Formats: sequence, C-alpha cells, structure tokens
Amino acid sequence: MSHSKIYLSPPHMTGNEQKYIKEAFDSNWIAPVGRNIDLFEQDIAHYVGAKGAVAVSSGTAAIHLALSLLGVQKGDTVFCSSLTFVASANPILYQSAEPVLIDSEPETWNMSPQALERALLDAKNEGKLPKAIIVVHLYGQPAKMDEIMNMSEAYGVPVIEDAAESLGSTYGRQMTGSIGKFGVFSFNGNKIITTSGGGALVSDDLEALDRARFLATQARDPAIHYQHSQLGFNYRLSNILAGIGRAQMEVIEERVQKRKEVFSIYKRALSDYVYFQCNNQSEKSLCRENRWLTAFTFVESEEPLEIIEHLREENIEARPIWKPLHLQPLFEKYKYYSHSASENVSEEIFRSGLCLPSGSNLSKEDQGEVINALLKNLRKESFIEEIV
Ligand SMILES: Cc1ncc(COP(=O)(O)O)c(C=O)c1O
Repeated sequence: MSHSKIYLSPPHMTGNEQKYIKEAFDSNWIAPVGRNIDLFEQDIAHYVGAKGAVAVSSGTAAIHLALSLLGVQKGDTVFCSSLTFVASANPILYQSAEPVLIDSEPETWNMSPQALERALLDAKNEGKLPKAIIVVHLYGQPAKMDEIMNMSEAYGVPVIEDAAESLGSTYGRQMTGSIGKFGVFSFNGNKIITTSGGGALVSDDLEALDRARFLATQARDPAIHYQHSQLGFNYRLSNILAGIGRAQMEVIEERVQKRKEVFSIYKRALSDYVYFQCNNQSEKSLCRENRWLTAFTFVESEEPLEIIEHLREENIEARPIWKPLHLQPLFEKYKYYSHSASENVSEEIFRSGLCLPSGSNLSKEDQGEVINALLKNLRKESFIEEIV
C-alpha cells in the first residue's frame, strides 16, 4: 500500500488562519470577545443570508441555546430527526424535555414529512404540541423544507434547522440554516470548514440573538457587581478560534465545489453498485447539496461493517451511517414515528449504508485508491477512468 492514511473528512487549512490568530495575539484579545468574533459572525450571517449570527463553542451549544430561547423546559416535547448524530437531540434532554423521534423519507434520508404530519396530528389531539421541531440536513443534504415549513406554520411550531453538516447547501434560493426560526452550524474538526471546535446560531430575530449572547455569557445582568437572575451558560467562541473561522469562511465556496467534485467522481465510479443519498433529486430540484460526506446504500446485500473493516486494513477511514436515535439505548424509551406502518427508512439506511472519505483536500490519486479498494471488496473490476 503506497498511500498514507486516508481520512473521512480531515481539516483543510488555507494558510490565512495564522494571520487572524496573530491579530488576536497582537491586540491581546485572548478571550471570548474581540474583533475576530465580530467579523466571523458577520461573515456567517452574510453568507447564509440571515440577519445575525452568534458564534459559540460548539454546534451542540447552539442547539441548546435555541431550545432555551424557545422556552423549552421540563414537561415539554421537542420533535427531532431520528437519523442523526446524538448531538442533535442531547440538548432536549439537557432541558429535561422529552424528544419525539421522526423517521426519514427515502429520497433525502431526512425528516419524513408524512411521519411528521402523523406526529403533529397526534400531538394536537392530545392537546400537547411540541415546543420545537429540530430538522437535520444530514450529510449536507437539504431536508424537504417546503413541506416541513408548511406544517410548522399550520401548527404554529417553530423549526430549528440543525445545519451542522450543511453549511453552503441551498434549498431553493435559501441557504440551509436560514429557513427555520433558528439555524445551527458546527465548526468541529471534521466539518466542511472548521475552527477546531465551534458553532454558530443564526436567525433573523436579532432580539433573540442578543438574548442568546446573554445566555451564552453566564446570563450576567447589566449591573456593575456580578448579578444573575437567570441560569446561563459559558458558550462563547474564543477570539483565537474565530480567527481560524474567518480564514475558513474566505474559501467556503471553494470547499463546497471541491466536495461536490469528490461526490461526482464517486458517482461516476460507483453508480452501478450503490444508491447515493438523494440519487435522483439533485438535478431535478433546485437544491445544492454541499456533499459534506458522500453517503450511499448498496444495491446488493452487503455488510457495511465488514467493508469498513476491510477499508481500514487498507488505511482508509470509512464510516457507517449514524445509528438512528430511536435505536440508541439513551433514547429508545421515547416515542418514535416511522415513515409508514411498514417502513422504517432510517433503520434500513443504517443497516445498508456507508460514508466514504470526502475531504476537500482528498487528492484524485487517493480517491482512486478508495474507489478501487471498495470495488475490490464488492468483487468488481477496478475503476480505470482517467481520474488518477
Ligand atoms: C448533525 C449534527 N448535529 C450536531 C452536531 C454537533 O456539533 P458540535 O460537534 O460542534 O457540537 C454535529 C457534529 O458534530 C452534527 O453532525
């Protein structure tokens, strides 16, 4: 094996990060306040087309703040996509509220509008509508927002978009994260851009964002002495890390284009053997997917965990699809709505799916290695097109 380890989605620095970190050092704003934070927030808000953004220490913190702003508390319910990383739903438990988990639909793998509708109808009949709906744009694929937003309006339940994985994806003319009441982004090390760790909350409701800043800085009352009347958090992003974020935002469009190129090479090589997430929708609809991770299920019955192990032996990092939350010991006691009486779409995707290395710094040679290693596992001929 000639290549060094091929990671799933490693950080991709531009070189400019150190310039903005140096600015923080030169001005001695080594703190969760400063110019890098102000400018990073402006960059994010401007890019996604929201009126404002609050930079925080993680995407999870941003979801927690959104729930706090919506007044979620003990006894409330919050609906959430089931096919997602655990961080989408953990903040519901932080607030001592109850999650209700919603299955996926087969096309985008995101929240099933028909399952959501049944859940909302039941909740209405029980006289207890949820306080919020957390919709995830999984692996950068926009959810069916028209249908979901129509229901949000009809039932008067606000939507929080968990766009942790979908910065740069659009739904119609809108960026994901700017459609619901609140949008959440993550800048964790494996995301399309990174601050090493960090997140953002975006919204058009500037008053709510001011309150988010207040809650994220220990909810300190406007008094000279340290006075607190409400429970707050220590959730602001460091001015040093925001410097990394400023440089990363300068290249976000390049990063999206590169991930899409990675996807289209996989598509050319593997289309006969796999069903890609949103196999057919992308050309038909007005969505632009950032293709943060290329994800698919196999056409023939395969064992994804065995394939991942074989790829690992070849120094290639592949990952299973997120295990649906309703199958997690932490969440299995909560209500779950399947796509239909006979279809558990998220379970099927989990059992038969895989994510391949998709970094924006993945070389064509390394991508060729990944493709050939996978084809070897599938007992198919190697990929010999002119990409390597
Ligand atoms: C769908 C989803 N939601 C939330 C998060 C949480 O983001 P963070 O790791 O920045 O807390 C992540 C990523 O880690 C994620 O993939």
